[in-house]
Amino acid sequence: MLDGKKTLFSGMQATGNLTLGNYCGALKNWVTLNDEYECFYSVVDMHSITVRQNPAELRKRARALLTLYIAAGLDPEKNCIYYQSHVSAHAELSWILNCYTYMGELNRMTQFKDKSSKHADNINSGLYTYPVLMASDILLYQADVVPVGADQMQHLELTRDIAQRFNNIYGDVFTIPEAYVGKTGARIMSLQDPTKKMSKSDENINASIYLTDDPDTIIRKFKRAVTDSSAEVRYDKEEKPGISNLIDIYRSATGKGIEEIEREFDGKGYGDFKLAVGESVADLLKPIQDRQVDLLKDKAYIDGIIKANAEKANYFANKTLRKVQKKVGFPERIR
Ligand code: TYM
Repeated sequence: MLDGKKTLFSGMQATGNLTLGNYCGALKNWVTLNDEYECFYSVVDMHSITVRQNPAELRKRARALLTLYIAAGLDPEKNCIYYQSHVSAHAELSWILNCYTYMGELNRMTQFKDKSSKHADNINSGLYTYPVLMASDILLYQADVVPVGADQMQHLELTRDIAQRFNNIYGDVFTIPEAYVGKTGARIMSLQDPTKKMSKSDENINASIYLTDDPDTIIRKFKRAVTDSSAEVRYDKEEKPGISNLIDIYRSATGKGIEEIEREFDGKGYGDFKLAVGESVADLLKPIQDRQVDLLKDKAYIDGIIKANAEKANYFANKTLRKVQKKVGFPERIR
């Protein structure tokens, strides 16, 4: 709890091309929650190197992502928007918490299993202990709430288990965080295979809407989206996963309810519906893209934010880290 407000933490990787899933499942909710909480939003570049990166590319993407947070509507004066690698407490707490996490727990992580099958030539120990770094991110800021998409729930559960285990030994050191999963958009599926999550690592570029796609590309990708042969806009995840995914996207983009959408397209074909979904998403993303382009040009302004927010994040992170170091028995620093 900071300044009488509860604390929120979340982060995103600056890897690959961000997708509409990242926006609907996370960023959009961050913006709606940011008045209510004291917020920390990290560009988690330390997580990114669990998979090989081109250094220049990573630096560029990290800056673009930090700028995107602002372009999407997060006020960097009110919210602490910062690079994870600028706060060394993340790595330090992560080491300590590694010693309070069991290999059996990490073995169960589905994201580790997925990623190690995709990167079979580089199953490094960072990939394996990735969830512990994520737990450290959250616990360092004593976060009460963590808005994420449904795919991060398992990592959140592990974070809670680690925090509880630590608190059981040493007293109330960590706030136990709750996940916040939005009512819409928590699991946006691939446009080409609606049984699979929309993912930036999908090889088929038509499967994902990238946040950098222009309106024509967005509309074209929706036109090509895989649906079914019944030509009825009705929400049924089992029987009509493709159309249900498009309804979810349309809900998230417009704020309309399922029944309202079904009524709107009653008697109309999939062509009309796909076009409406495409246009709603293009309308949603275009202003953000334009703001991001403008912000990226303002080097001094962005640099100022990076500096000020790194200081703020370090201050809060170190407070927790010092407490943890003392609890586990590290010698006090002499000033
Ligand atoms: P990342 O970078 O893969 O994704 C960022 C956020 O986007 C959400 N998301 C989705 N939501 C709905 N539908 C989809 N298809 C979709 N794809 C991605 C994710 O759930 C996530 O909220 N490990 C995290 C980053 C992280 C983090 C943290 C998050 C590191 N430390 C601490 C919260 C708190 C990750 O790789 O997310």
